[in-house]
Amino acid sequence: MSQASLYAVVDSILEEIGNRERNLIAVLQSIQEHFRYLPKEIFPYLSKKIGISEAKIYSVATFYENFSLEPKGKFVIKVCDGTACHVRKSIPILERLRKDLTLSASKSTTDDLNFTVETVSCLGACGLAPVITVNDKVYPAMTPDKATELVNQLKGEL
Ligand code: FES
Repeated sequence: MSQASLYAVVDSILEEIGNRERNLIAVLQSIQEHFRYLPKEIFPYLSKKIGISEAKIYSVATFYENFSLEPKGKFVIKVCDGTACHVRKSIPILERLRKDLTLSASKSTTDDLNFTVETVSCLGACGLAPVITVNDKVYPAMTPDKATELVNQLKGEL
């Protein structure tokens, strides 16, 4: 996406939500919804448009866990590695997903931006362990084979 069209998206979001400092979080949320992450070019641009420092916007963006400064895939798969899931073998599921998608601990998103694989500490569904989510939809009692099946099914939805 060109910088001009990126700024055009940000402009329409600012117009809709407002360009005051108190609107900042809502504006960042909306930008993230649109791009699935916060592109770095938006920081100087928002700073000018809202009239607060880039450092302040950056600190808000990094404070909230839900904001991402890295591009994410269309499907974000979260593998729970909290205690309940870990003891029920979440790591082999994570390893299978990484193998199927050619990802690793240092590369969490595929180059085509279709998949991101991350770990989380507890999804609050320990009774269903081991659990993964895809874009917040919960998949209980996973196994490596079920994870492979799920990835193939998701590829069919692309
Ligand atoms: S430990 Fe996985 S859902 Fe709680």
